[in-house]
Amino acid sequence: MTQPKSGDTFGVVGLFESADALMAAISKVREAGLGKVEAYTPYPVHGLDKALGQRRSPLGGMVMIMGVLGALTAFLFQWWISGIDYPIVTGGKAPTSWQAFVPIMFEVTVLFATFTAGLGMLFFLNKLPFFGHPVLHAKAISAITRDRFGLAIEAEGDAFDVAAAVRALESAGARPIEVISVPSFSGPMTARYLERSLLGIAIACAVSGYATYWAVKLFPVLPPTSHMLVQPRLDPQKPSAFFKDGHGMQLPVPGTVARGYLPLGVTSQEEAATLVNPLAVTQKVLEEGRQAYMNHCVVCHGPLANGVPTLTSAYGAKPANLQAQQFREYPDGKIYWAIVMGKNAMPSYAADLSEDDRWAVIHYLRALQRAQNAKPGDLAGVKFEAGSGQGSEGKAP
Ligand code: HEC
Repeated sequence: MTQPKSGDTFGVVGLFESADALMAAISKVREAGLGKVEAYTPYPVHGLDKALGQRRSPLGGMVMIMGVLGALTAFLFQWWISGIDYPIVTGGKAPTSWQAFVPIMFEVTVLFATFTAGLGMLFFLNKLPFFGHPVLHAKAISAITRDRFGLAIEAEGDAFDVAAAVRALESAGARPIEVISVPSFSGPMTARYLERSLLGIAIACAVSGYATYWAVKLFPVLPPTSHMLVQPRLDPQKPSAFFKDGHGMQLPVPGTVARGYLPLGVTSQEEAATLVNPLAVTQKVLEEGRQAYMNHCVVCHGPLANGVPTLTSAYGAKPANLQAQQFREYPDGKIYWAIVMGKNAMPSYAADLSEDDRWAVIHYLRALQRAQNAKPGDLAGVKFEAGSGQGSEGKAP
């Protein structure tokens, strides 16, 4: 926010008739080293910035740095929120899976970069709010904006030798030469005006924010927030005039079949005896059956299915000994019925086990039964190899 004091000498400007004359003069005037050399031309002149010794604009670098900073900020922010502060598993992915962060990273990169480009150029490089450049108040400007090329030596400190600057421009061939002083700034666009405006905007934002906060708090039924609340809808456990029986919650239509839960098709355990296990005995099926048995049955029937629970005696009921003759001779279908319907103290496992799981458990149960009641004949055809601990368990009967 540099604003030269009015009345100070800003510099000396001289006019040239052509761009070539200007270019030729620049090096001579710069050699004299009297102040900052600046050119004012009616149109961009090639090589002018180089001749004036101006370095490349730092804007690109600034934008680059802030863009990278934006990407990093967005990444770290999301990583902290999703991974540390409030980790939630979404769609089965790790809370810190970075792929989900990319859109926001891109947006914040663009945000940081564009703000740097815009505001950095205006305030940092173009030195806003430095309104009314003194050259705009010189007589020379009307010629410069038409067809003349201005070359100025501008004061850099207090020790500015006006006479020497005039001589330097003269010997470089400039005509006419004009000493420019800093004009008195009038009009609204001064730094102070801008400061006041910004302060006003800040106060307005604070007041309106505070007022909105209290308005929403005191009058909560403002239209946009109540739309979802007052829409016609069915509330759980609430009456509704929409249905004949006046209940908002309705039972499924009779005969409704939930996906994956086909009805049994038999009405008693005796009838169920006819059901045939649809699964072939394979290593995979037995493994699935073992998993299901370990998850759902082992607590009561025990790892050997002999009815010795892994529960303590505090469990009152007496789980069936599935190694008993009766259950070894039980048809698969009757066991299936027991799993689906439950039996006295044993609840139904229909909701926990899919159809395939139930049949797989039965195959596994058969394997347990046979392992505990192996006959010499079971070993026929089994080759014992050195180092192989695999017995006949798991082979098809
Ligand atoms: C909460 C303990 C418990 C769990 C878990 C349990 N059962 Fe039972 N089960 C029992 C009890 C108790 C009985 C004896 C019921 C009776 O005859 O009064 C029983 C009986 C049985 C019977 C004999 C049914 C009949 O017709 O007499 C079979 C077969 C059976 N269970 C299989 C299973 C299978 C397979 C699982 C795993 C999916 C399982 N049970 C899980 C407690 C359990």
